[in-house]
Amino acid sequence: MKLDEAKLYHKIDAVVVGAGLAGLRAALEIARNGFQVAVISKVYPTRSHSGAAQGGIAAALANVKEDSLDLHMFDTIKGGDYLGDQDVIEFFISEAVKTVYEFENMGVPFSRTEDGRINQRDFGGHSSPRACFSADITGHVLLHTLYEQCVKQHVHFFNEFQVFSLLIENDSCKGVVAWDIRNGGMHTFHSKSVLLATGGYGRAYKITSNAHANTGDALALILECGLPLEDMEFVQFHPTGLYKHGILLSEAARGEGAYILNDKGERFMKNYAATKMELGPRDVVSRAEQTEINEGRGIGGKDYVYLDLRHIGKERIMERLPQVYDLALNYLKVDAIKEPIPIQPTAHYSMGGIPANVRTEVIKDAKGSIIKGLYTAGEASCLSVHGANRLGTNSLQDAATFGRIAGISMSQFVRDNKFENLPANPQDAALKKVSTFMNGTGKERHSVIRALLQNGMTKLAGVFRTEEDMLKLRVLVKELQERFKNVTIDDKGNSYNMDLIEAFEVSNLLSFSETIVEGAIARKESRGAHYRNDYPKRDDENWLRHTLAWQTEKGVVLDHSKEVIIFRDRYAPQERKY
Ligand code: FUM
Repeated sequence: MKLDEAKLYHKIDAVVVGAGLAGLRAALEIARNGFQVAVISKVYPTRSHSGAAQGGIAAALANVKEDSLDLHMFDTIKGGDYLGDQDVIEFFISEAVKTVYEFENMGVPFSRTEDGRINQRDFGGHSSPRACFSADITGHVLLHTLYEQCVKQHVHFFNEFQVFSLLIENDSCKGVVAWDIRNGGMHTFHSKSVLLATGGYGRAYKITSNAHANTGDALALILECGLPLEDMEFVQFHPTGLYKHGILLSEAARGEGAYILNDKGERFMKNYAATKMELGPRDVVSRAEQTEINEGRGIGGKDYVYLDLRHIGKERIMERLPQVYDLALNYLKVDAIKEPIPIQPTAHYSMGGIPANVRTEVIKDAKGSIIKGLYTAGEASCLSVHGANRLGTNSLQDAATFGRIAGISMSQFVRDNKFENLPANPQDAALKKVSTFMNGTGKERHSVIRALLQNGMTKLAGVFRTEEDMLKLRVLVKELQERFKNVTIDDKGNSYNMDLIEAFEVSNLLSFSETIVEGAIARKESRGAHYRNDYPKRDDENWLRHTLAWQTEKGVVLDHSKEVIIFRDRYAPQERKY
């Protein structure tokens, strides 16, 4: 399909916002079904953050050891501390094997076993080697392969376009409005169906493995439309962030046998998850590290511990973990063949997001009422597969599987529905945002406000949380939202005005962060990645429920009436031990 980017109005069957794994997989499906599809992405597609997911994609292929769908399902439920909806998890697991073989058929260069099958490695919280991998660049190869497939199917890409508003009227989505970052100019995309696949929101934190682009833009747009977000208080911290940078050092390292050590040289995981050791789930390992650090057993008493690869040996490190090796060398000048690597927990994955059903249709309430024509998949969404804590390698699988499901659902919708009329003056809301930044006279700088927010979130709503801290954070976020009203940008130009884009991104961070804080204050228990020192136990009686959060003029409104779907005869909640 050829679309003219010089025009400011585009009429297309389907629009996909975000060019990561979920977005590309959906676009491919829609194009293969013969419908017009445009992908709008603020970065060049192969720079999308899915490319940074390194260690593998989960599927119970049982290529190197016995495994089963049932075991994968149980591990996922337990890993998520019983907050995942088990009907959705069951569907997800049932599709996972097919998703991997589809990738194999597309030409993904998986690492192989001696006898030529897709190789699989261990990963945290999984009870069998289930991570199908390509060295430690799995997300990268999946993303590139999918992009090539999309190009082959003539998917039209609007690269370096930033969506500024959603066109939703009467519970029906009619398109989006996006700014052309390269040339300037606001474009209206009139479409029958829209997929929001903009990834996670780790950039609300100072130490994060997330790319600069991961500012949760679609989540803020959803709130702006009066729609809720789900389970936002559940933010995953990955245990092996490169010290001070937060950059991901893949869990693949531990899958290949790496140790985590404290200042005494102890493999301290024996005190926290004796059966799984370093391959405990991420919430457990991150808390263990943070405890060692808080109790003075960080290296030299400082705020980091060590990831030790040395015993794995040069040959295996270079074959299986070349990226981990390069990152340590390039950013910290540490030669991981000879020295341990300084690490600390890093904000990594957003379990919360835009609520949707198993068909990826966006829902607007606890009853599951849908917004017609609006879909979401990947990390931006909350379906909820991962519950309170995602297992490593389930995210690439989630993005690819539910990307495909979104493509199927959207194709069906496009087939069965006509274009609806656009709202009057569709660009007004988006243009107002641009002119507010361009014509502002205030003295505030978005970069200063962003840094204050990120510091506050890391310090006050991190691995460990307390009421006292989060009440301080609530005040800070409100204060920063007020200050943000006085933000002015210096660049008044049209082309590559990153001052404008960053101001918009910071406004989005400030918007959805409020729902993290309010959700976390309200949830008076500890579950998965949400750990409260003042409520250290899981409380199934009162809190085995999802959080829906709306932004209103009176502040964030929460609803906890959405129940978790549990198959009590098969996977009733148990105490979570590793
Ligand atoms: O550690 C990793 O390779 C990350 C993978 C994931 O988050 O699934």
